Amino acid sequence: MQVSPEFEDFFCAQSTGGASRKQNGARRDSGQRYRQQGFPGLVQRNIVDIIRRLPPCHCLHTAVNPLLDRLQPYPFQRLRQLFAGAKPDAALRHVDLSIGEPKHPTPALITEAIAANFDGLAQYPATLGTPALREAIADWLAQRYGIARPDPALQVLPVNGSREALFSFVQAVIDPTGPTQPVVVSPNPFYQIYEGAALLAGAEPYYVNCLPETNLLADWASVPQEIWQRTQVVFVCSPGNPTGAVMGLDGWRTLFALAERHNFIIASDECYSEIWFDSPPLGALQAASLLGHDYERLVVFSSLSKRSNAPGMRSGFVAGDAEILAKFLLYRTYHGSAMSTMLQAASVAAWRDEAHVEANRAAYRAKFEAVVPLLAAPLKAQMPDAAFYLWAEVPARYDGDDTAFARELYERCHVTVLPGSYLARTAHGVNPGAGRVRLALVANLDDCVEGARRIAEFAR
Ligand SMILES: Cc1ncc(COP(=O)(O)O)c(C=O)c1O
Repeated sequence: MQVSPEFEDFFCAQSTGGASRKQNGARRDSGQRYRQQGFPGLVQRNIVDIIRRLPPCHCLHTAVNPLLDRLQPYPFQRLRQLFAGAKPDAALRHVDLSIGEPKHPTPALITEAIAANFDGLAQYPATLGTPALREAIADWLAQRYGIARPDPALQVLPVNGSREALFSFVQAVIDPTGPTQPVVVSPNPFYQIYEGAALLAGAEPYYVNCLPETNLLADWASVPQEIWQRTQVVFVCSPGNPTGAVMGLDGWRTLFALAERHNFIIASDECYSEIWFDSPPLGALQAASLLGHDYERLVVFSSLSKRSNAPGMRSGFVAGDAEILAKFLLYRTYHGSAMSTMLQAASVAAWRDEAHVEANRAAYRAKFEAVVPLLAAPLKAQMPDAAFYLWAEVPARYDGDDTAFARELYERCHVTVLPGSYLARTAHGVNPGAGRVRLALVANLDDCVEGARRIAEFAR
């Protein structure tokens, strides 16, 4: 058990009124200093012994939140470890299909709006956001989903991208003071922020597998009553990362009924809502409106990152239950997460324009139309409902080992894909990502096709 020399001297000096137990001069001086300044209260000789007996995380100089130790390594960290020492063929240009970062150019209407609003840097922005941005988001929601315009003052809140909002929302709403540990329900596979947010809020994550037999959607009926009774937040990711699956009205009907019965909040992550192929995906606010529900217990998260190719802008919103958003706003005021007014002005321009979104969709559609036929046989790749991922199966000869497939593919073909098992947890006896890989079709058309050709050749 370690005690920092500085603290050890401090306590000894206080308690004995004399020199440090350690007889080196510098430390004696430090004890002297504390004695002269006087530190009331901390005078018990045995406090050093108490600290010595504490488990390491309670040691004063390392006293950090022990929940941090429960966070899992991020998938890309695991990927780096998987590829350590691998020597890909340098003659082949690297095709990276692993990261879900949009690569299409950010539209000029955004960059021009940023350039026209540099004077916003001279102001502290309000956490609530500008009326212009809240109105633009409310108008967009009404137009996109055919719903009554949400109240821009109470039902819409700008955030710095959906990631920080998904995380901070859970910190704001989880109540850890009850008699049992709260539960956060997450789809499995899932966006890892859901899990980290739950763990750091002191909640227990509960994973609902999204398997082919339920069309890659969470099977809410599989969740036991004991879990629902402790559930405070349920994450929905529709369109899903990595599955691309969109939850239909029946799924929403079931979930709304469960939320009402068990009084939990639905956090609906919809950041891929604008990347679709045939018809626009159903949104949670839209589903509520179609089913005659108000937005009680419902909050949706969206973002310009994928819709408008602006992941670096960090601009998104939350919308829904006004009472919950008021609490979230209070939390955010202290958290200090207001968006720069310059970026808010650019976000207004982005939410008010659909032409660039249609062009973006067309570019993704062209890539899927070119790539899916190449990978349909070797990886059983199928068109997703929406989003920009293929959730493909590794060839049978890998016997479900997605990590071995990813590593060999990297070494032999210089193509990076993400092992599916890194995006899911083993739950209820199965890791729903095992035997799958996620391909993000974010690079340009030529690179996506080149990558798919190499994969098809390799998988044969
Ligand atoms: C499912 C999902 N939700 C949220 C995010 C966060 O996106 P952003 O913070 O850029 O809005 C991502 C990013 O990849 C994602 O895949």
